[in-house]
Amino acid sequence: MSIGKNVIHDSALGHVSGQSQYIDDIPSQKNEVYVGIVPSCFACADVKGISFEKLNSHPDFIMGITADDLHDNSWGTIVHDQPVLASQKVNYMSEPVALVVSKSRYSLQELIKLVDVDYREKKGIFTIDDAKLEKSTIYKAHPFKRGDVQKALKKSMHLLKGTFKCGGQEHFYLESQACIAYPDEDVMRVVSSSQHPSETQRVVAHALGLPLHHIVCEVKRMGGGFGGKESQGAPIAAYAAIVAKKLGKPARISLTVDEDMKITGKRHPFQNEYVVGFDNKGKITALKAHLQSDGGAYSDLSSSILERAMFHLDGAYYLENVEIKATCYKTNNHSNTAFRGFGGPQGNMTIESIIEDIAQTLGLDSYEIRKINCYRGSKNITPYGQKVENNMLPELFEKLHKTSQYKKRKKQVEEFNKKNKYKARGLSMTATKFGIAFTAKFLNQANALVNMHLDGTVQVSTGATEMGQGVNTKIQQTVASAFGIKPSSVKVMTTSTEKNHNTSATAASSGADLNCAAAFNACEMIKERLIQIAKNYNIKNEIEVSDSLKRTKGYTFKNEKVTSPSGKKYNLKDLITKAYLNRVSLGAYAHFKTKGLEFDKDKGWGSPFNYFSQGTAVSEVEVDLLTGELKVLRTDILMDLGRLINPGIDKGQTVGAFIQAMGWVTTENLCYDDKRNLLTHSPTTYKIPNIQDIPREFKVNFIQNHENKRNIFQSKAVGEPPFVLGISVWTAVKNALSVKCSSVVEMSSPATNENILITYEKHR
Ligand code: MTE
Ligand code: HPA
Ligand code: MOS
Repeated sequence: MSIGKNVIHDSALGHVSGQSQYIDDIPSQKNEVYVGIVPSCFACADVKGISFEKLNSHPDFIMGITADDLHDNSWGTIVHDQPVLASQKVNYMSEPVALVVSKSRYSLQELIKLVDVDYREKKGIFTIDDAKLEKSTIYKAHPFKRGDVQKALKKSMHLLKGTFKCGGQEHFYLESQACIAYPDEDVMRVVSSSQHPSETQRVVAHALGLPLHHIVCEVKRMGGGFGGKESQGAPIAAYAAIVAKKLGKPARISLTVDEDMKITGKRHPFQNEYVVGFDNKGKITALKAHLQSDGGAYSDLSSSILERAMFHLDGAYYLENVEIKATCYKTNNHSNTAFRGFGGPQGNMTIESIIEDIAQTLGLDSYEIRKINCYRGSKNITPYGQKVENNMLPELFEKLHKTSQYKKRKKQVEEFNKKNKYKARGLSMTATKFGIAFTAKFLNQANALVNMHLDGTVQVSTGATEMGQGVNTKIQQTVASAFGIKPSSVKVMTTSTEKNHNTSATAASSGADLNCAAAFNACEMIKERLIQIAKNYNIKNEIEVSDSLKRTKGYTFKNEKVTSPSGKKYNLKDLITKAYLNRVSLGAYAHFKTKGLEFDKDKGWGSPFNYFSQGTAVSEVEVDLLTGELKVLRTDILMDLGRLINPGIDKGQTVGAFIQAMGWVTTENLCYDDKRNLLTHSPTTYKIPNIQDIPREFKVNFIQNHENKRNIFQSKAVGEPPFVLGISVWTAVKNALSVKCSSVVEMSSPATNENILITYEKHR
């Protein structure tokens, strides 16, 4: 049984030795051409004309492409409102307006600069406040309501009103958006860095005017996606494909980091208004909130992200009287998109910020406020009607409180703050209760193809895409344990729309949940046939095997042997050979769908999630009040991931997600000039965490929980939930400043050194 073991990540050796192949590592074919994007020079303008005239004398120039060359110039994962190439109008700075095709990748930047685009600049909308004034919206969600908020607010002992603001975030995947398109007679084969091969297939098909069966999208792996390649990889693939189709030659596109950062969308900045009522103990009696996000120029996944923010406003806390409204605004910023957590962090952070403020107002420790508001017992229904089953939150809070020595350290922090004039320390514990499932029900399905070979090894293909998160390894473990064979006897093959159709993005942390389950179902089909072979082992005539899905009970597959209920043992390999000789199929294709998901959007009520992955984290920070410098002294994390499929991978995901979130709430600050040029478009100015920034003491643990009956192997998804725990670093900074200033401190995220200083100066 390889479930629960630290089976080595299938790319680990390749990654450290440099042998893993990414898109741009694929050797060029001799007639290959290179594609570059011409970015707009204005955030909002009419486009009067595009001229490639000046490029004609350049020896490398092959041709220019505009919107007119596309069959259907619109795409969008939910609403088709985004042009593949802008025509007539540009709606954000650096929006792709044209393509140039070159014989050499090295002259692309030169060629791009030679393209003449005639713009008429117009006034743009750049902030949520301006969009509000102009009534420029992308989506208004149906509100969630429970109880009587107005009445409860009136009756509340205390009220706090405020606006919580958090910034966007650049994905900073190490492999930029990239694709090579290969014309293969009348099929276009796109090899892409995409979390969503089926969507890429569709966008390419529409852009080229071809039916879907003439497009194949293949993804071997990504050098990171983090949500940035859920939707936005698709138009990049269309750029390569349209050129490949026109020229009948392979076409390669691979953005530079600077281009990628300027052109592609990011995490949504939010600006959430709220009024909260609470009693003397800090029990929240009413919460009224309006979540507001900056969607940028086009819809993309913004409506779904906004809704996930609403679903996570409650965080780990029961809200009896609650009203949550939400609006996504349309601005002339880059089109914001999925990013690890998918709006969840922006919602969850709001309530954690509110709780810090309640604690400061009442002069209590925020941990006490969190504990009394935490979901427990019969107080286990979310504002949208889902019951929090298998709720581990109270245990997580209490255990981490103990193991992190919270009480003792809180005292030490207080003493430190009394003794130090120019330094302040803060301590804060936050939590997550992350809903697992795509909130659009139809996306919660997957299919798998399992092929068993005569030497007893297996190839498996699903729609899941590997981006470093280890989904391939978890699928490999699933198949190995199903057949009772070694993980090294299972190979997870390149993801391709040719083998797995109509797949969902590898997203919503449910890649492993859905695809492991589909692979498991396919294995069960083959196993049933092998069992029938075993039952009829000594029959002389050809063995007939019925493909009934009824699982014969009592047979076990272990150590490459199959054992009958009576204890008779067969070599798995012998059964495989016998199956083949008896003309019994050793391949299976299976489908899986998550059961029990029901949510009524018009009522804002139901159970959109399969289950919740949960966790708590406590962070201790020190800020220098003269320079704003921030040090994270210690972080303790405790998570409930059910029964871990691969502890090593799950720990890697937990640590990675936490640090990525810590970057979001501390140093990653997107800066623009007045025209909305992104100033922080490279690692020299955009500061992600590095090894020195991680907590000086960092403890990561998981609790034992084998009771999650709603997912394969009783596991729980890990990809996004720990991201939410990074918020504890920000609330710890807020705690440090609140205590030092003896007041509720309004601080936006990220808490950059500069922001820490400004906030301190404003409140002291
Ligand atoms: N881990 C790595 N190394 N690279 C990534 O791009 N993406 C995250 C998470 N972990 C990501 C990652 C995001 S946004 C999601 S939704 C999940 O992985 C997707 O994979 P899963 O559903 O298989 O967990
Ligand atoms: N999470 C992540 N990605 C998604 C979702 C979701 O709920 N819905 C569509 N894409
Ligand atoms: Mo993850 S943001 O759901 O790709």
